[in-house]
Amino acid sequence: MTVNNKNTILVTGGTGYIGSHTVVALHERGYRVVIADNLSNSHRFMLDRIAEITGQAHPFYAIDLCDKKALKALFEQEQDIVASIHFAAFKAVGESVEKPLTYYRNNLVSLMNLLEVQQQFGVAKLVFSSSCTVYGEPDTLPVTEDSPIKPASSPYGNTKQMGEEIIADFTNVSGIKAIALRYFNPVGAHHSALIGEYPNSVPNNLVPFITQTAIGKQQELKIFGSDYQTPDGTCIRDYIHVVDVAAAHIAALDRLMNHTDVQAFEVYNIGTGTGYSVLEMVKAFEKVSGKTLPYRLTNRRQGDIEKVYADTSHSNKVLHWKAQKSLEEMMHSAWLWEQKLNSQTHTSK
Ligand code: UFG
Repeated sequence: MTVNNKNTILVTGGTGYIGSHTVVALHERGYRVVIADNLSNSHRFMLDRIAEITGQAHPFYAIDLCDKKALKALFEQEQDIVASIHFAAFKAVGESVEKPLTYYRNNLVSLMNLLEVQQQFGVAKLVFSSSCTVYGEPDTLPVTEDSPIKPASSPYGNTKQMGEEIIADFTNVSGIKAIALRYFNPVGAHHSALIGEYPNSVPNNLVPFITQTAIGKQQELKIFGSDYQTPDGTCIRDYIHVVDVAAAHIAALDRLMNHTDVQAFEVYNIGTGTGYSVLEMVKAFEKVSGKTLPYRLTNRRQGDIEKVYADTSHSNKVLHWKAQKSLEEMMHSAWLWEQKLNSQTHTSK
C-alpha cells in the first residue's frame, strides 16, 4: 500500500480504547494523526503512552464535537486533513437506557457536526465506528452485512443504527464517501501493554471484568446466564483482538483513498468469524494466566443476545483485511495490560 506521508487523518476519540490503538496503527502506516477527544471517558496520559509507542507526540485537541465552533477551529488549524475516523461516542449500553437523551444528543449531534464541518472543509472521507449491535438477535449465523437490521435494544444501539442512516443519507448528496465498520467484541491490548481498555468504574464488559477479578479488584466474575441454547449454556460472541480492529481502519482508509469503485457508503463486519462462549473465555484466560478464576453462574443479563458471530468474507475480500490474532493472544495481552496498569502509578486525567 502506498501512503503519502503528508496525509493527515483526524481521529476523534483517539485517546479511547479502539481509538488509541488505531492512532498507533495509522502512525505505523506513515499517516500524520491529529487527535480530538473531550476526555469524558478516557485519560490524558494515554497521549503519553501513544507517544511512547510511536516515538512522537501527536497534535491533540481537547474538544467536544458537539461544539461545532471548536470543531471548525480544528479544521481551520489543520489544513492537511484528508479523512476522519470517528470513534468519539458514549458506549455504555445500561447507562444509555438510563440517560437516553444524553446518548442521542452526544452521539448524533457530534456525528452531524463532523459531517457538516468536514463537508465545509472539503474532507470527503469518513470511517465510522458501528457495532454488531445493529443485528440484534440474528435469525441465521454467521451474520452477513445483508442480515436484517433489528430494532435496537438500547438507546446506545439505536445511536449506531441512526448514525449509519444519517451517514447513508448524507453521503447520497454530499460527495462524502464513508465506511462503517461493525465491530463485534473487541478485546485485548497493544503488545507493549502501554495502551488498553481502561474502564472508569466497574467494567460492564467480560474481558476487563475477568482481568480485574484475577488481579483482585473484583471478587468474582458473575456469568450472566447458563441456560442459553448453546453447547455449554453460556452466551457466544465473536471476540476480536483490538489490534486487528485497528488494522481494519487502515484497510478501510486505504479503500476510501485508493480505490475508485467505492460506493458512497459501505459497511463491513469486523470480527474473526469464530464464536466463543463465556465459559470458553474463562478457560482461555485461566490457561494463559495460570490462575484459577473465581466465577459464579447467575441470572441472565437483560438485553443480552444469545449468540452472534460474523461472516467476515465480505471484509476479507473487499478490504483485503483479516483478523490475525488468536484467542490466546487476546487474553495474554489483556492480562499483561491489567498487570502493568496495577504495577504503575500515573497522573490521572
Ligand atoms: N458477561 C458476563 N459477565 C460479565 C460481563 C459479561 O457473563 O460480568 C457476558 C455477557 O452476558 C455476554 C458476554 O459476556 O454474554 C459478553 O459481554 P460484553 O458486555 O463484554 O459484550 P456484549 O456482547 O454484551 O456487548 C458488546 C459491546 C456493546 C455492543 C454489543 C453489541 O460492549 O457496546 O456488544 O452486541 F452494543
